[in-house]
Amino acid sequence: MSNIVLAITGGIAAYKSAIFARLLIKAGFDVRVIMTTGAQAFITPLTLQALTGNEVHISLLDEKAEAGMGHIELAKWADLIIIAPASANTLARLAMGMADDLLTTVCLATAAPVIIAPAMNQQMWAHPAVNLNVQTLRDMNYQIIAPASGEQACGDVGAGRLPEPEQLLAEVLLFNAMQTTPQLLAGKRVVITAGPTVEAIDPVRYLSNHSTGKMGFALARACVAAGADVILIAGGKVALPTPLNVTRIDVLSAKEMLVAAQQCVDGTHSALQYVPEDEHDHSHDHEHNHSHQHEHHASVIAVMIIATVITTAMRLMMRSMLIARIKM
Ligand SMILES: Cc1cc2nc3c(=O)[nH]c(=O)nc-3n(C[C@H](O)[C@H](O)[C@H](O)COP(=O)(O)O)c2cc1C
Repeated sequence: MSNIVLAITGGIAAYKSAIFARLLIKAGFDVRVIMTTGAQAFITPLTLQALTGNEVHISLLDEKAEAGMGHIELAKWADLIIIAPASANTLARLAMGMADDLLTTVCLATAAPVIIAPAMNQQMWAHPAVNLNVQTLRDMNYQIIAPASGEQACGDVGAGRLPEPEQLLAEVLLFNAMQTTPQLLAGKRVVITAGPTVEAIDPVRYLSNHSTGKMGFALARACVAAGADVILIAGGKVALPTPLNVTRIDVLSAKEMLVAAQQCVDGTHSALQYVPEDEHDHSHDHEHNHSHQHEHHASVIAVMIIATVITTAMRLMMRSMLIARIKM
């Protein structure tokens, strides 16, 4: 994978795309940029042209552009298309299969995988229409990078921020690794717990630990690269971005973590929307496969549960010791 089309749409985060383009080039990719009309209100094609060394593609119905690298050539040239930031408007048009500008037309005309990094105001991101479009795009095999949470340009706080350019690069590299790593975990579900748990002592104070969650998140990336269906149970409001293709469940206390892990073992957690491929494919030995997979899932998760139970017990001990000391 060496040719990347970076598509930029009309969002306030478009300025990050310039740094992202630079990082892609530094990582050895040949980058061509598509900008929507909306994107050009936020950042100029000249900036991207100077950074990539290639002319920026901005229009569909343009004789000069078609005489050069036209939309079909661009769609064929790409090994990967990444749309960052992707506006709510572009998500809707892609979900509808529209082809009314260069970006949407190239997305329909390409055989390359398309990664989408949505970015918008938190209220927009929470809108059912946007959720529906994202789900439609997932169903059509578009890869979605979950937006980050935090303070937004408009002053709101919540989910909808474009992940930092370094993070976007990490997702591209992860996607690349998914294509090149032996799929030793294909058809397997891996459940990983990561990050600190938080035990409330009273409405104001809590007990926690210094865990960053980095190891669990790195493990999740490695398992995704090896083809696993990964569920990441993240404790204590871990601020790390969710890796591509990972189902993330956020919890606070050790008890919540334990319950989530147990539900993932049982397959009853609401975040588990689909079953692994194996269960669809082999109708004859369905029984065997199912029980085998269940065993496999259980054995992977058991390690986490034991760890969680131990930490739960330790925290409960610490808590009762603390309460005893407060009472003294
Ligand atoms: C200042 C400003 C900031 C905007 N930021 C965003 C944004 O972050 N995300 C988004 O989805 N739309 C945002 N919009 C709205 C889009 O620019 C608008 O929907 C536009 O039609 C998108 O066109 P495109 O998808 O073709 O690029 C913003 C609009 C303005 C005026």
